[in-house]
Amino acid sequence: MQENLGQSVSLWMATSAEPNQSALVEDTHADVCIVGAGIAGITTAYMLAKQGKSVVVLDDGAVGGGQTQRTTAHLSNALDDRYFEIERLHGSEGAKLAASSHTAAIDRIESIIGEEQIACDFVRLDGYLFLLPGESPELLDRELAAAHRAGLGGVERLSRAPLVCFDTGPCLRFPRQAQFHPLKYLAAVAAAIERAGGRIFTATHAETIEGGKPARIKTSSGRIVTADAVVVATNSPVNDLLAIHTKQAAYMSYAIGAVVPRGAVTTALYWDTLDPYHYVRIQPLSPETGMTEQSGAEGQDVLIVGGEDHKTGQAPAHSVPYARLEAWARERFPMIREVRFRWSGQVMETIDGLAFIGRNPLDKPNVFIVTGDSGMGMTHGTIAGILLTDLILGRENPWTTLYDPSRKTLGALGRFAKENLNVARQYGDWMTGGDVDSSAQIKPGAGAVIRHGLTKIAVYRDEQGVCHERSAVCPHLGGIIHWNDAEKTWDCPCHGSRFDRLGGVLNGPANRDLSGVDSDCGKCVCDSPPIPSKTTDYAEYLSPSSHGSESRRGTEHANLP
Ligand SMILES: Cc1cc2nc3c(=O)[nH]c(=O)nc-3n(C[C@H](O)[C@H](O)[C@H](O)COP(=O)(O)OP(=O)(O)OC[C@H]3O[C@@H](n4cnc5c(N)ncnc54)[C@H](O)[C@@H]3O)c2cc1C
Ligand code: FES
Repeated sequence: MQENLGQSVSLWMATSAEPNQSALVEDTHADVCIVGAGIAGITTAYMLAKQGKSVVVLDDGAVGGGQTQRTTAHLSNALDDRYFEIERLHGSEGAKLAASSHTAAIDRIESIIGEEQIACDFVRLDGYLFLLPGESPELLDRELAAAHRAGLGGVERLSRAPLVCFDTGPCLRFPRQAQFHPLKYLAAVAAAIERAGGRIFTATHAETIEGGKPARIKTSSGRIVTADAVVVATNSPVNDLLAIHTKQAAYMSYAIGAVVPRGAVTTALYWDTLDPYHYVRIQPLSPETGMTEQSGAEGQDVLIVGGEDHKTGQAPAHSVPYARLEAWARERFPMIREVRFRWSGQVMETIDGLAFIGRNPLDKPNVFIVTGDSGMGMTHGTIAGILLTDLILGRENPWTTLYDPSRKTLGALGRFAKENLNVARQYGDWMTGGDVDSSAQIKPGAGAVIRHGLTKIAVYRDEQGVCHERSAVCPHLGGIIHWNDAEKTWDCPCHGSRFDRLGGVLNGPANRDLSGVDSDCGKCVCDSPPIPSKTTDYAEYLSPSSHGSESRRGTEHANLP
């Protein structure tokens, strides 16, 4: 099993082998440097390498160690935001291109699996979109018509999904969807990159990323990578201060994996129309998926149920997402035996439902980004591989305008205003008190924000009772971070930066750790090395070899005294 220090473990992490790449130790040059080894970065590197480009991939965790290991890996062209909405926002041609690009992405994944002979549990199957109890079927009719106009002629309306355990009522069937094991896929694609001459360096944090001739990427250990082009595939771009982050918002999403008897639930993808919606799939639990016979895997499947999304750092008071998912699932799937997996992760929702893939706005022309997965990061990440390869090779691609990160979608102005008003409100945290009055009130294994004069401090008390203090001010744009007890992380409610319990950055847009504090006056010590003074297990915790430790500055910390 892959390690995951302090945070939840997904089914994929529990059933795949540890990747074996290592850190960059010398300056180097490549045609293209890709920062980020999730599905977007690895797919882009693979496609460029296959076109004869020399590629270097940098990741400060491990291959797939970001949000890709936290996905549920539905491969779908049934767009989360609905075709009628995509048509309203992007026009009928845009909706057609969206449909064809997601279809092409699934096809491309299938062809890569064939060419590279990857065993990753890939299956083609149907997807079913069903209504909430009592909801008007009119929504399905609108979506059916819009999907047909977008070119998905095979979508049909049925009286119910093929589930014997509960009657979904009317639904839409989307044919030729797919599912796979994302980490097995990614590990094999990474191996194919290396066979094609590409180089992948993990535990290597890209500290600065500058476009130009050549593009220059400086790592936190001082190594320099130069390249003709750079692709920033860090899920949330760490090289972009604001432009993109006003057009997308970070949401946490939760998933459970429940053991059910083999074959008790028809293998398919399922979604309901709740907002936020539930998403469901089946994964065989067998020795082939990494579970051994001794663990009772034979004759069992895992029913994966996801949902309960909320804005990152803004969990509703007393929220119990896993309990709510389990209750929802048990009511509809009474054959559930036990819930064996619980995990969460982050999705980037754009204001107009589609990812941002292309040249980074306001930057040099050889800097490219991919972000805004909109809950469909498996296909959007693959679209990025196809599209960015064409852009970098100077080839035309019909999807360029649709996914252009500089686009302004007039119909999305309302959502733009709503999300940014929400961000502005978060700065009100500067005026409020702390979560608790003193660190004495914090239990072992928990964290809380404490007011200290004019500023706020994030305090984590470890299991041994030692307190670790960091500035509670997010290094991106000064939001006040919140404690996430489920994942033991500090989450910024403004644009979704996340930090591990000791302050190491996990998710952009922030690209550095929380500052230390002077314990006498509580002021941030911004220029000091970003390492807690009272750490007990930090080096082990951030060991560069641990796949699941998503900390993005692992090597640097581990090497400090
Ligand atoms: C619960 C959940 C369910 C989901 N279900 C689905 C689904 O069913 N279908 C679907 O299509 N999508 C789904 N998604 C979305 C999908 O998982 C993500 O969109 C996708 O994995 C993102 O891939 P990525 O390559 O963009 O980012 P990541 O996988 O996060 O990769 C980014 C990488 O960049 C690295 N990095 C960041 N900053 C730096 C730096 N400065 N230097 C070096 N490296 C850096 C990180 O370590 C990370 O490995 C789901 C997401 C969640 C959380
Ligand atoms: S993520 Fe932007 S201020 Fe924290």
